[in-house]
Amino acid sequence: MFKSEVYTKRREELHKKLQTGIALFISNTEAPMNYPDNTYHFRQDSDFLYFFGLDLPGLAGLMDFDSGKDRIFGNDFNMDDIIWMGPQPSVRELALKCGISEAVPMAKLEVTIKDALEKKRKIHFLPPYRAETKMILGSLLKENPCQMKTMASVDLIKAVISMRSIKEKVEIDEIEKAVDIAYEMHVTAMKMCKQGVKEQDIFGTIEGIALSKGGGTSFPIILSINGQTLHNHSHGNILIKGRMMVTDAGAETNLHYASDITRTIPVGGKFSEKQKNIYEIVLKANTEAIKAARPGISNRDLHFMACKIITTEMKNLGLMKGNVDEAVAAGAHALFMPHGLGHMMGLDVHDMEALGENFIGYNEEIKRSEQFGTAFLRFALPYKPGHVFTVEPGCYFIPELIEKWKTEGKFKEFINYSKIDDYISIGGIRIEDNVLITDKGHKVLGKPIPKTVIEVESICS
Ligand code: GLY
Ligand code: MN
Ligand code: MN
Repeated sequence: MFKSEVYTKRREELHKKLQTGIALFISNTEAPMNYPDNTYHFRQDSDFLYFFGLDLPGLAGLMDFDSGKDRIFGNDFNMDDIIWMGPQPSVRELALKCGISEAVPMAKLEVTIKDALEKKRKIHFLPPYRAETKMILGSLLKENPCQMKTMASVDLIKAVISMRSIKEKVEIDEIEKAVDIAYEMHVTAMKMCKQGVKEQDIFGTIEGIALSKGGGTSFPIILSINGQTLHNHSHGNILIKGRMMVTDAGAETNLHYASDITRTIPVGGKFSEKQKNIYEIVLKANTEAIKAARPGISNRDLHFMACKIITTEMKNLGLMKGNVDEAVAAGAHALFMPHGLGHMMGLDVHDMEALGENFIGYNEEIKRSEQFGTAFLRFALPYKPGHVFTVEPGCYFIPELIEKWKTEGKFKEFINYSKIDDYISIGGIRIEDNVLITDKGHKVLGKPIPKTVIEVESICS
């Protein structure tokens, strides 16, 4: 974890923002896979990590905004725990690591919350996303666990988002480490991207890199020659010449900061003319959007900039037609790019999404579009220095969507359906980088990962 001052300072800031009531943060618990003692990989709750840094299950953090005091609740290991799991620092020692002097046995949490309820104090908590946490909260608050998400504190959600959105120097350093692990993963995938190799071989190898160099992957790896399926989590194909392999993969550092990188590689490492045509379009959307990123401009502006580049270039190739601005305003480009340009990234790969996407990426003035494609834009607000986000334009040939729109005659004034068949075997292409907004512009984080046609062909050979 970071030094205790990092967590103390964050909690002090939250105290200033909220001022009254208490805030309860429940750590994640172990989650059983097929019987109680056979658990999934433990992943701590990101907000718990942010304010307390303790990477262990079975804890709770309580901040009292009226008294200014913070407490950690938990149980010390007994001899049985030590025999099976080894010794652990005491809860008091753990609390001191995050700058808290008061450690309390878990059984006292119920009494503390009961007292707060009786005194009708405001009890702030964040929306739980795991059943176990809903059950713990429901039981403490004497409320229906299924209502815990709707009963979460909007004031706390907004305060936490305002803090976590602006990354500190120590966080940016961690994210850069995570991108550097992703560099190793992607360069390895590029070198293995040859005819006859199983997707599963590459998937397992790069997952191993994430595990051996950090805290594992930041999300389930997407690695497929069927890249037209945006979040394809099956790895059962054998690579064949003529297809392109989309690898969307990132790592977590040991402190759980994420990277999220996508590269798309022709099987065999050499682009065909048609593959190159589409690849260069996506690359241009990626690089131009990154170039324009700076404080003040919004992620939505950048999204539409990328959509217009894709539309203009698809028109130059003969796949689209008509007026580019009108096509993008109507949403015709979404046949090829049906997702948003990117999302915030930090302790979560889609940072803070458990707190509610619309709280992170939208506000009273900037509302989410309901148009197909643009509706999937996760973050639309103006950038501020310290924001870290992904830039991930893509171009996909989704046979089912193309067939549907073609049959409906949808946007036939903007789309040359007869030309699409020539490109359908490309599948999908996405190129994704991780970007920090600085005071005057931006910085692409981490060691640059090959992405021009020349760089990709050279690393593959
Ligand atoms: N890794 C999924 C995404 O790029 O959002
Ligand atoms: Mn990704
Ligand atoms: Mn992403």
